[in-house]
Amino acid sequence: MVQRLEGRVAVVTGGGSGIGLATVRRFASEGAKVVVADLEPATGKAAADEMGGLFVQVDVTEEEQVKALFQTTVDTYGKLDVAFNNAGISPPDDDSILTTGIEAWERVQKVNLTSVYLCCKYAIPHMQANGKGSIINTASFVATMGAATSQISYTASKGGVLAMSRELGVQFAREGIRVNALSPGPVNTPLLQELFAKDPERAARRLVHVPLGRFAEPEEIAAAVAFLASDDSSFMTASNFLVDGGIAGAYVTPL
Ligand SMILES: NC(=O)c1ccc[n+]([C@@H]2O[C@H](COP(=O)([O-])OP(=O)(O)OC[C@H]3O[C@@H](n4cnc5c(N)ncnc54)[C@H](O)[C@@H]3O)[C@@H](O)[C@H]2O)c1
Repeated sequence: MVQRLEGRVAVVTGGGSGIGLATVRRFASEGAKVVVADLEPATGKAAADEMGGLFVQVDVTEEEQVKALFQTTVDTYGKLDVAFNNAGISPPDDDSILTTGIEAWERVQKVNLTSVYLCCKYAIPHMQANGKGSIINTASFVATMGAATSQISYTASKGGVLAMSRELGVQFAREGIRVNALSPGPVNTPLLQELFAKDPERAARRLVHVPLGRFAEPEEIAAAVAFLASDDSSFMTASNFLVDGGIAGAYVTPL
């Protein structure tokens, strides 16, 4: 494995599962010191132990906890190079706008969007002190494309993540801090598996739109995150980095 992240210090929120876990592994294998931040102590700690990294239990919707996460990182490892703000939820009660209540709407906005605001707010000053940094915020292809199988708050939250990442990327560009949105297509993770286990027809309806004919594996998304975290992407900021199997480019897919 190339060692593009040798000596770098990276925080991964939602690092205990799915895309976050695959990224923790990828970052560590490329030489980074990794801080795993997750609400779930069992999976989060297991991920950190596997990598010889640090686990910090954090609810990314809580301002003081997010502030402490980045301070603890710098206190432990001396600096902050990479923030992968990735924790997110996709609960079943977030559905059509006609049936989604305000409580579900607000819960999803808090975990998916407010958390990214908080993580950027408290990561950036440490990166300014370091003279550089790379922030990757997990959006989704649904920030770019509409779905008739709506999850209205989720989609709106990811649109917010995309717009916020673009603006921060522009604002901090000349301070050496890059901010990019990562927009995965559907990924084979517990979040999606849970959604589709109940309704295989729903899965088939989505797969037909993917030119590559399958969902992504978390490791394929992690490879893209490692690229954005590393100096290999040094001329990329304020971008919408789509890793979507071709969905956003497709009109008619292969049979
Ligand atoms: N799975 C997909 O198909 C897909 C597609 C596009 C984008 N995404 C996005 O990628 C990200 C990761 O998704 P995943 O599929 O790996 O999910 P996942 O459910 O496998 O992992 C999410 C992790 O976030 C943690 N988390 C949830 N709420 C938290 C909170 N308040 N504070 C701290 N940690 C919290 C969970 O404990 C879990 O470990 C999410 O932002 C999701 O919206 C996923």
